[in-house]
Amino acid sequence: MQYKLQADMKQAKLLKDQVALVTGADSGIGKGVALAMAQVGAKVLINYVHNHYAADEVVKIIKDAGGEAFAHQADVSKEDEVKAMFAKIIETYGTIDILVNNAGLQKDAKFVDMTLDDWNTVIGINLTGQFLCSREAAKEFIKRGVVEDVSVAAGKIICMSSVHEVIPWAGHVNYATSKGGIGMFMKSIAQELAPHKIRVMGIGPGAIQTPINKEAWDTPQALNKLLELIPYNRIGQPDDIGKLAVWLASDEADYITGTTIFMDGGMTLYPGFADNG
Ligand code: BGC
Repeated sequence: MQYKLQADMKQAKLLKDQVALVTGADSGIGKGVALAMAQVGAKVLINYVHNHYAADEVVKIIKDAGGEAFAHQADVSKEDEVKAMFAKIIETYGTIDILVNNAGLQKDAKFVDMTLDDWNTVIGINLTGQFLCSREAAKEFIKRGVVEDVSVAAGKIICMSSVHEVIPWAGHVNYATSKGGIGMFMKSIAQELAPHKIRVMGIGPGAIQTPINKEAWDTPQALNKLLELIPYNRIGQPDDIGKLAVWLASDEADYITGTTIFMDGGMTLYPGFADNG
């Protein structure tokens, strides 16, 4: 057992020389994660589907601060586009160390009105997209193995989940099902990949102030109603999740694999029970 301080007490750049791919990094939580990773030394591929202006803006913020990034368009639910994206990141930066499966969307509808298209689109991007990207990342991690100067792990995969991995959500059955699926997907591949020194983890954000849930926070009335679900009494910010993603991907969290960390101001504490039950 070792208890010793490093000779150099200065905070090293936690993800120095690591290559990260963040899907859906042109806005919301993905943008927050990409910026947080770049801030601590990662080179970042900013994946997007539609908004190349927004993706270019994220790249510019990183480059202006002296970091490295580039934008790449790919629909994560399409196998050929995912394969081309991985070929591109390997061609550009030589390899990949961190995958953040973040791309996701909601297509809300009452269950009886939900179309097959609403269902397939959400499952396709939120769940199948994580499968396709994780598979390509795992292949590269296994082929390359551990590079000791970079990280003690051979690779890290972060699966963006949600409090709706565990909280049922009427009117959002496709979305909640995709997030429940991500939980079991993450654990199963974590079990399979751990012997290869690959860590796989989930992040379960609560209500984070992003375009996906604008209706829930853009008026004082909506925000007050939302805060009833958050014991800590504030809405989350993309940077909250960014800091957690950095830490999980770093060697500081090397003994963590196969679990989802909920970052939700207490949303999963069943606040309705605080004065009831
Ligand atoms: C959803 C948001 C919602 C939050 C809390 C997230 O996963 O995307 O729309 O505000 O969960 O319910």
